[in-house]
Amino acid sequence: MERRDCDAVVLFGATGDLCYRKIHPALYHLVRRGILTVPIVGVARQGWKAEQYAARVRESLAAFVPGADEAVVARLIGLLRYVDGDYNSRATFEALRAALGPLARPLCYLAIPPSMFGVVAENLSGALGTMDARIVVEKPFGRDLASARELNRTLHAHFPESSIFRIDHYLGKEAVQNILYFRFANSFLEPVLNRNFVASVQITMAETLGVAGRGRFYEEAGAIRDVMQNHLMQIVALLAMEPPVNTEGESLRDEKVKVLKAIRPASTAELVRGQFVGYRSEPGVAPDSRVETYAALTLHIDSWRWSGVPFYMRAGKRLPVTATEVVVDLRPPPARVFGDSGPEQPNHLRFRVGPDVAIAIGAHTKSPGPAMTGRDVELFAAEQPGDDMDAYEVLISAALIGDTTHFARQDEVEAAWAIVDPVLNAATPPIEYAPASWGPPQAERLLQGPCGWHNPGATAQGWQRSCGTSG
Ligand code: BG6
Repeated sequence: MERRDCDAVVLFGATGDLCYRKIHPALYHLVRRGILTVPIVGVARQGWKAEQYAARVRESLAAFVPGADEAVVARLIGLLRYVDGDYNSRATFEALRAALGPLARPLCYLAIPPSMFGVVAENLSGALGTMDARIVVEKPFGRDLASARELNRTLHAHFPESSIFRIDHYLGKEAVQNILYFRFANSFLEPVLNRNFVASVQITMAETLGVAGRGRFYEEAGAIRDVMQNHLMQIVALLAMEPPVNTEGESLRDEKVKVLKAIRPASTAELVRGQFVGYRSEPGVAPDSRVETYAALTLHIDSWRWSGVPFYMRAGKRLPVTATEVVVDLRPPPARVFGDSGPEQPNHLRFRVGPDVAIAIGAHTKSPGPAMTGRDVELFAAEQPGDDMDAYEVLISAALIGDTTHFARQDEVEAAWAIVDPVLNAATPPIEYAPASWGPPQAERLLQGPCGWHNPGATAQGWQRSCGTSG
């Protein structure tokens, strides 16, 4: 990878919520680690002066970086510049040009609604001309396949794909990167990760929180658009893709796109949508809303490796715990050597992707004593949380040096939309479920084979599974 570092950061939407909650705290930590030393230009239309912006950054750190080191805060504040103005006006971009002075390689973070991407990209390329700018955009990348294509066309009218960094913050998570690492840094796993050994794969993303004041946003999204098309589809891609040649250049993203393209478009016949009781009374939510706060879906990958292996995914708000887990269930041994006293649970591989990081291999060992009876055990590895970089830190620092590996490429985003597109406008209303339950029981019917959904626990070891005696 050719390394070309950015020499400035420009934040569009500098006074907005994303900067307040996520980006300013991430920038603080990058300054603390000595990774970020270049000027940061906030841009917004507030009628503010630079001092007010600096005060806003301080507020954000007070709220989201408990115990922030005042010397680091001062260093960050010292890097700030501010430009006030309308994104439709050329004058704003001339002022930005002036604020950048001789700096020529800004990282421009578009922390603004997607409807503004086009005008900002156009004015940016007009004002910065020959400058070598990179742009960072956040999901939602469109709201279906057609709008995602349109958005990509708009961005490409002004910037090449190599300068566009689409953030899916799951790709910056330690545990998600660990799926890639664990799969391809070991030799024992690859021989079994295919249709010959794997019975099914389950991915559950559970959250105890509801829509947390974001009702208006959520009404436009729902669980499928909000987390399945992006975060969970990225997990599927990392789990199911073929080995990349390396993790440099485009190899990794090429493999992800290949497997995403092999996934059959989802079908409403294999979809269960739910809505938690009380959602319709949330601020910003329509009293007769049909938006799903829970979805469970079966995916089929039509590839040599995965043909016939169902991939089940579900995501929901107001579930009993906050945790994301992947469970790969293996097929049972071909003969019951130990008769009825032999193991009932399938062998499995379990990735805990959040809030903590753990990997477990489920196996059977003999119980002590004269009888040939066994018990289920897990070989379990967990990472102790240390001074880990948060996903935004990881991704912003990668964008600063131009490393696109963990960003979503245009074809990847469009392939993921193509999978969920047929189920975005389901005609039937969502099924109500009680808060703190595991969602509509109808979702159990999606599963084939002896095991039901594996429910993650509040802690990595507290998970539950129910497998029958058949199969
Ligand atoms: C966001 C979604 O992308 O991811 C939220 O918009 C969701 O609805 C969040 O709560 C979950 O992220 P994390 O990092 O807390 O698992």
